[in-house]
Amino acid sequence: MKQHAHHQHGHHHNGHHGGPGFANAKEWAKVFDDPARDEWQRPNEVIAALGLTSNMTVADLGAGTGYFSVRLARALPDGAVIATDVEPDMVTHLQQRAAEAGLTNLRAQRATPASAGLAPRSVDRVLIVNVWHHIDDRVSYARDLAASLKPGGRIVVVDYRKDAADGPPPEMRLEPQRIIDEFQAAGLVALQHSTQLPRQYIVEAREP
Ligand SMILES: C[S@@+](CC[C@H](N)C(=O)[O-])C[C@H]1O[C@@H](n2cnc3c(N)ncnc32)[C@H](O)[C@@H]1O
Repeated sequence: MKQHAHHQHGHHHNGHHGGPGFANAKEWAKVFDDPARDEWQRPNEVIAALGLTSNMTVADLGAGTGYFSVRLARALPDGAVIATDVEPDMVTHLQQRAAEAGLTNLRAQRATPASAGLAPRSVDRVLIVNVWHHIDDRVSYARDLAASLKPGGRIVVVDYRKDAADGPPPEMRLEPQRIIDEFQAAGLVALQHSTQLPRQYIVEAREP
C-alpha cells in the first residue's frame, strides 16, 4: 500500500514537473479513477465546496484522467468544463472519455507548465486537485489564474496535508498557509475552506 501510494502521485523518478511521470493515461486511470478513491477523496464534498450553479464554466487544471472533470460536467448541465493537462496523452484520454460518456459540455485542452491557457475573464471556478505542488512559479501562475476569473470567480486548491498517511513524498507537500500566502502575493484574498477531507485541505482564493 505504501509503495503504491508513492507511485500514485507520479513523483517516482521523474513525475515532478508534469514530465514523463504522467505520460501514460491508461495506466494512471487505474490509479486516479480507482473507485476506492471516493472514500478519501470525497468528490461530492469537494464539489459542494465550489458553490456551483448549473450554468457555470469551471476549469479543472491538471485534470489527469478526468476523475473530477466528468463529475463537474454532470454537475453543470447548463454550463461547461474546461479540463487542462500538460500531458498530451491525458488530453487525448479526456477527450475520449467525454465522448464516450456523452458529455458534450466537457472540453479538454493542453496547458503549458507555466500557464493554464485560459482566456481572460472566462471562468467562474478553477479547481486544482493534487497539482499545485507540481507548479514551479506559483505566484506568477496565480496571477495568471486571477486574470481568467469572471467577476465573483473563485480558485479552489485541494492538496495533501503534511500529516496525511498517504500522498506525495512529505517534502513535496505544502502547508495550506503557504498556498494562502502565494495567492495573497498574487493580489487575491485566500483562506482555508472549512471542509476537511481525510487526507487533504481545501484552500479558496478570490478577488478582493
Ligand atoms: C496527481 S495528478 C492529478 C490529476 C487530477 N487532478 C486528479 O485529481 O485525479 C497531476 C496531474 O497534473 C498534471 N500537471 C502537472 N503539472 C501541471 C501544470 N503545470 N499544468 C497542468 N497540469 C499539470 C499532470 O500531468 C497530471 O496529470
